[in-house]
Amino acid sequence: MVKPFASILTARTKIRLPTAADAPFVTAIENDSELKRLCGRPSGKSEECYRESLGKPRDLWCLIVESLDTRSPIGRCGLMTPIFSDECEVHVILTKDQWGRGLGTEIALALRDLAKEMFPQRCLTAKVHPKNAASLAIIGKLRLAQHGIIASDSYDNGWLQFRRSLHDECNQ
Ligand SMILES: CC(C)(COP(=O)(O)OP(=O)(O)OC[C@H]1O[C@@H](n2cnc3c(N)ncnc32)[C@H](O)[C@@H]1OP(=O)(O)O)[C@@H](O)C(=O)NCCC(=O)NCCS
Repeated sequence: MVKPFASILTARTKIRLPTAADAPFVTAIENDSELKRLCGRPSGKSEECYRESLGKPRDLWCLIVESLDTRSPIGRCGLMTPIFSDECEVHVILTKDQWGRGLGTEIALALRDLAKEMFPQRCLTAKVHPKNAASLAIIGKLRLAQHGIIASDSYDNGWLQFRRSLHDECNQ
């Protein structure tokens, strides 16, 4: 049984469950080709489609990152926990005006702690485009180890796979 989740705070952000009102923001992020260049492709999904799914969040895959300064959304992030695997995949996407200020690291570390609390029996994982230097730097700070390269017919072919146990005492 997954513990209830509403939000967590980092030094500069609030990470919270989405609502249908976040649909315009998420639609803009998900269809921004520059933003998605090294993390998949634009989804092509409509605001209506996101309004439907964000209004009924079933897991922690699409969380909204809000600035504590402005109270406005500045990104999305989350943890994907597929039923038939031991993975807890972490991801962070910030709007371009927020890049390079240490926020990606701040949010990723908070998600690692959240994963440890919510899914202690799983492994924290990430998949990263080999040219995504900022993500690779953050993966290093999460101390994930590379364990493979994805071979697929999809956008993630050739991406690097990383993982780390969340229940290993050596991980502190
Ligand atoms: C990936 C992303 C979340 C990083 O967020 P960020 O706030 O810019 O990252 P940080 O400022 O915490 O920087 C993390 C590290 O990456 C480095 N870095 C940041 N941008 C970089 C770049 N363009 N090239 C090389 N290194 C970079 C930083 O120097 C830092 O390393 P350091 O602490 O050793 O100096 C952000 O760039 C983003 O949203 N990108 C688009 C979406 C994406 O690719 N998401 C990841 C896959 S889901």
